[in-house]
Amino acid sequence: VDVHTVDWLAGPEGAALLATLPPYEEGRALAVGERLRRDGVDPAVVAAALTQSRLRARGVTKLGPEAATMLLTPDGLEQASRADVAALHAARFAAAGVRHVWDLGCGVGADARALADAGLSVTAVEADPVTAAVARANLAGRRGVRVVVGRAEEVVLPGGAGRAGQGAWLDPARRVTGVADARGRTRRVFRLSEVSPPWEVVQGVAARLPAVGAKFGPGFPHHEVPDGAQATWLSYGGEALECTLWWGDLVERPGRDVLVHDGTRWHILAPADSSGVPEAGGEVRPGDRLHDPDRAVLAAGLVGAVCAAVGGRESAPGSGYVVSRDGRATPWARCLEVVEVLPLQVKALRAWARSHDVGPLTLKKRGAWVDAEALRRQVRPRGSREATLVLTRLARPSGPAAVALWVRPCPDGSPGAR
Ligand SMILES: C[S@@+](CC[C@H](N)C(=O)[O-])C[C@H]1O[C@@H](n2cnc3c(N)ncnc32)[C@H](O)[C@@H]1O
Repeated sequence: VDVHTVDWLAGPEGAALLATLPPYEEGRALAVGERLRRDGVDPAVVAAALTQSRLRARGVTKLGPEAATMLLTPDGLEQASRADVAALHAARFAAAGVRHVWDLGCGVGADARALADAGLSVTAVEADPVTAAVARANLAGRRGVRVVVGRAEEVVLPGGAGRAGQGAWLDPARRVTGVADARGRTRRVFRLSEVSPPWEVVQGVAARLPAVGAKFGPGFPHHEVPDGAQATWLSYGGEALECTLWWGDLVERPGRDVLVHDGTRWHILAPADSSGVPEAGGEVRPGDRLHDPDRAVLAAGLVGAVCAAVGGRESAPGSGYVVSRDGRATPWARCLEVVEVLPLQVKALRAWARSHDVGPLTLKKRGAWVDAEALRRQVRPRGSREATLVLTRLARPSGPAAVALWVRPCPDGSPGAR
C-alpha cells in the first residue's frame, strides 16, 4: 500500500468499506473480493481492504480486540509489541513520573498507543512514510499524540531544564524491510550492529534524557549492557520475546533480570545470592526434579537464580538444567520428574522403548552432542505410549556422562509443578 491508500482506508469511505467486510475467513476472501469488484470498487482498494481484514484477524491475539479497527501492514504487525507487554512498559514510564515520551521508530503505533493510554503525551517518530500514515490512523483520537515522519537520529531532543518529565522509547527494527527469508517473512537481523535506529543512536538518546527504555532481541549480548542500566529478558507464554534495557529514572535494579508471564501474571527473577548453591554436577536419580528454565532465563544467564530458588544445582556446568531433590514451584522453569536415567546409547534406548511400549517420543536436547532426529530414527519407537527424553550431559563424580533422562511432568499439585 501507499500513503494515499492508507489515508483513504483511514477516512470515512475506507472505514465504511472495512466495516462492511464479514469476519475474515481465508476460504471466503475470494468471493468477498469478487462481490466488491462487481459492486464497482476499485480492484486496488479491494485488495488493500481484504489485506486489512486478514491482518486485523491475525492481529487480535497480539494487539487485543482493538486490532479489529486498526490499520496494519504485514511488517508492522510482525514487529508490533504485544498489547500487554506494551502496557507493562508504558506503566513503568508513568510510574517514574514521565509526562512525555519520544517513541523513536513507532511502527504501527502499538507501543505509542499503550503510552497514550497510560496518560502520557507522545511524539511518535517513524522513518517510513506508509507506516507513519498507519500509525497516525491508529493513534487518531488519542489525546496528546503526534505522529511525525522522520529519522530518530535527526530528532532534536530537549536539553537543559526542558528535559524534566521527558522520556524516550526505542524499539529498533530487527528486520530488513523488503528482504524475505525462506518462509517468505521479512528477514530478521540478530546482530546489534544491524538494528535500526542503530544501537549508538539508542545510547545517545539514553545519555540525553532522564528516562529511556529500548527493546532488543533476546540474544542481546550481556557485555553490551551499559553500567547502571537494567536489562530485563522477557518471556510470554514460554516464548522469549525481548530484552528491554532501561536507563535513568526507569531503572529499578541495575544489571540483568527476567520477567516471565505465566498466562496469568508477571513474575520477576532477579539474580540471587548463589553462595549456598551447590556446585554443578553430581548424580541424578529417579524421583529427582529436573527444572528446565524458561528460554528468557537461559538468555539472561540466570540459571543460578533458578538453582537458588529451587534449592538445586546445575546438572553439569553450563548444561542449563537444574536438578533438585524436591524443588518447589517456580514460574521460571518447567518442572519435570526423572523416571529413569538411561545411557545415551542407541542399543540401550531401543531396548527401553521396546520394553515400555514407547511410540510418540519427544526429545529435548541441551548440552549433549547428538543429532536428536538421527537418534529417533535409530531408536525406532513403534509402541503406543508417549514419552519424553532429555538428552544432556551430567558431571558425575566418576566423570562426565552423556545421558537420556526419561522424564514426565511433575505430578499435579506437587511442589515444583508449573
Ligand atoms: C520494531 S518497529 C516498532 C514497533 C512499535 N514499537 C510497535 O509496537 O508498533 C521499528 C520501526 O522503526 C522504524 N525505523 C527504523 N529505523 C528508523 C530510524 N532511523 N528512525 C525512525 N524510525 C525508524 C521502522 O520503519 C519500524 O517501523
